[in-house]
Amino acid sequence: MAEAQGNIDAKDYGIGVPQDSQGYYLKGSANLDWGMKDRLARVFNPTTGKTVMLAFDHGYIMGPTSGLERMDLSIVPLTSYADCLMCTRGSLRQIVPPTCGKPISLRFSAGSTVLTDLNDECTMDIQEAMRLNATMVAVMVAVGNKKYEGQTIRNLTSTVNAGSRVGIPVLGVTAVGKELVRDSRYLSMASRVCAENGAHVVKTYYCSEGFEKVAASCPVPIVIAGGKKLPELDALKMARNAIDQGACGVDMGRNIFQADHPIAMIQAVRAVVHDGESPEKALDLYETLKNAKVAK
Ligand code: 5RP
Repeated sequence: MAEAQGNIDAKDYGIGVPQDSQGYYLKGSANLDWGMKDRLARVFNPTTGKTVMLAFDHGYIMGPTSGLERMDLSIVPLTSYADCLMCTRGSLRQIVPPTCGKPISLRFSAGSTVLTDLNDECTMDIQEAMRLNATMVAVMVAVGNKKYEGQTIRNLTSTVNAGSRVGIPVLGVTAVGKELVRDSRYLSMASRVCAENGAHVVKTYYCSEGFEKVAASCPVPIVIAGGKKLPELDALKMARNAIDQGACGVDMGRNIFQADHPIAMIQAVRAVVHDGESPEKALDLYETLKNAKVAK
């Protein structure tokens, strides 16, 4: 038999060289299975440990938000600058080119809109996330909401169960109701509840006082939402402060796609998140790109 003769003798055993135990670079993720780690490594750059996620899932509760009226025109040109795209299954199928090669954080819970009572949500089928080749699935969690807290936490736990069966990590999104204050006490409680219930990544808001405590007491990576549109320098300062205080990235929407120049803005945010740039230098980059002919 060919296999029994003529084979090169195996000899490269590396005797004396310990096998690399391959620690993992994201906090709280060392004990995850290979598929989860592979997916997380597509969201968080393994060199910087950070991510710039582009969020454009607002329409599922807000309708045609400013900047998202025509996502084929406003969002598609931004996708190549993002590390990960956060969107609904509708916009994924309708406008995101399947050839873009970007990891997808799929909005996995849905229900009521801003016209009624937010956070009355259910979740999708994990088979649908698999069909769409989702890299991560995102579930809204309304900690402190008297009506929907339990329901949204159950949504998170059932999604973690389903995601764990197929190796898809879950992003717990801390919702903030009108009645709740976005302070570090609330945000650390909400973030921790998501992590304790199995979220592999948490998305929350930045707070100017005590954010380092929010990040430190959350045992999995935190990414911050951008929130309402701010002047560009303020948004870049917020990103800088969040990263310096322990966030592993941003999941930013309005502060990018509502900027005067979204393509320049996303590159400025990248400079802050991945290159350690100061907000002022990143603003210079923004202005330069904005004024350059090549930037659109
Ligand atoms: C909408 C969301 C958004 O993804 C999130 O709020 C990020 O967008 P922005 O930076 O505009 O706040 O969860 O429901």
